[in-house]
Amino acid sequence: MKLQSRQVNGNGFSYPVELHEDLNGLKEKLASLKDVSKFFIITNRQIAGIYEKYLFAELKSLSIPFHIIYVKPGEKNKHIDRLKKVYHELVKEDADRKAVIVAFGGGVIGDFAGFVASTYQRGIRFVQVPTTLLACVDSSVGGKVAVNLDLGKNMVGAFFQPEFVYAPLFALSTLPRREWSCGLAEIVKHAFLEGGELLNRLESTSRKDFHSGAEVLRYCIDESVRFKSSVVEQDEREGGLRAILNLGHTTGHAIESVTKYAKYSHGEAVSMGLMTALLLSKSVLGFSETNIERAVKMMKALELPLKINEKINEIIEHMDHDKKKEGSTLKFVLLEDFGKPKFGVSVGRDKILEVLKFQKGWDLLGR
Ligand code: NAD
Ligand code: GLY
Repeated sequence: MKLQSRQVNGNGFSYPVELHEDLNGLKEKLASLKDVSKFFIITNRQIAGIYEKYLFAELKSLSIPFHIIYVKPGEKNKHIDRLKKVYHELVKEDADRKAVIVAFGGGVIGDFAGFVASTYQRGIRFVQVPTTLLACVDSSVGGKVAVNLDLGKNMVGAFFQPEFVYAPLFALSTLPRREWSCGLAEIVKHAFLEGGELLNRLESTSRKDFHSGAEVLRYCIDESVRFKSSVVEQDEREGGLRAILNLGHTTGHAIESVTKYAKYSHGEAVSMGLMTALLLSKSVLGFSETNIERAVKMMKALELPLKINEKINEIIEHMDHDKKKEGSTLKFVLLEDFGKPKFGVSVGRDKILEVLKFQKGWDLLGR
């Protein structure tokens, strides 16, 4: 059953992002695509192991042939070296320009399969079926597709919009608990950037409510999609405004990198990075202490980590490698207030050092 639908209307593209209860309905969406020669589902065996039977039920009742391509799970496999095998499988399975790729999985699958679609025979159509909370609220919307190099994440990519996004809510029931943090951190990011009702709603929501209450989950997914779409519609290619979506990510990436992507999930690192961004906002743009208190309370209730435990110098060193570096200052997305972001704000190392030291020694329980 379709629960919600949002249309993303950008410069030269328009597609729906639909939230469904389950996969029952995917067949109709796929059948609505014109002139398709074959569907190629890109997924991994972890996800297929649980959902393949539902997917097959939809695909088998279509009169169009399909083929499943399995890739290995995990960020390390969203790698340029993994592309060739998939391109070869497409050729062997007669994928022509009318073939359609279906990305069935989380953000790793979505980014990778989307990149394959953007390059195979100079671009074929693709569809996103996100199965993680992060993919539902963030990565499936907006058309950023990419693979990693050994020398950096998402270093080779494209802006390539899907034909539609079909998010089956039931898939979240099997999502490991830690993976929820990734999606929740991005929802919180959207709430900080927009302020208003989404923020108010999150302030009265605990982690438990997300796991037990479908209504708040649906609301937050829909609002996140609405907010992200509104940004992408104005600035698909990150000429300016879209940069606000990097709130919290400069520090988040540095923490992930310092801890070799092993200690924290991406969401946990972004969560700490969001708090760094708010503390820097206070120091640089006069973001209020009351807002910091509100954010701390909210993120604690959502069980998102705030305190930094790593070596501060190492974090700053990794920030220096960040692509947003310019001259001797680092640039951040900061907030004047909730709902009032500023991107490209230069911050000196002394300020960053001061804030990170504070965040490391923070007595959160005492607040
Ligand atoms: P992920 O895709 O690695 O999925 C997390 C894990 O959960 C994987 O092991 C996966 O196999 C498993 N999984 C997926 N769905 C499941 C389900 N329903 N039940 C049980 N297990 C399931 O992680 P993610 O957080 O979804 O995505 C992270 C990626 O997204 C990163 O590569 C990041 O760069 C990218 N990203 C892209 C954008 C964008 O705009 N394109 C935005 C944010 C993040
Ligand atoms: N997740 C950042 C973006 O889509 O721009």
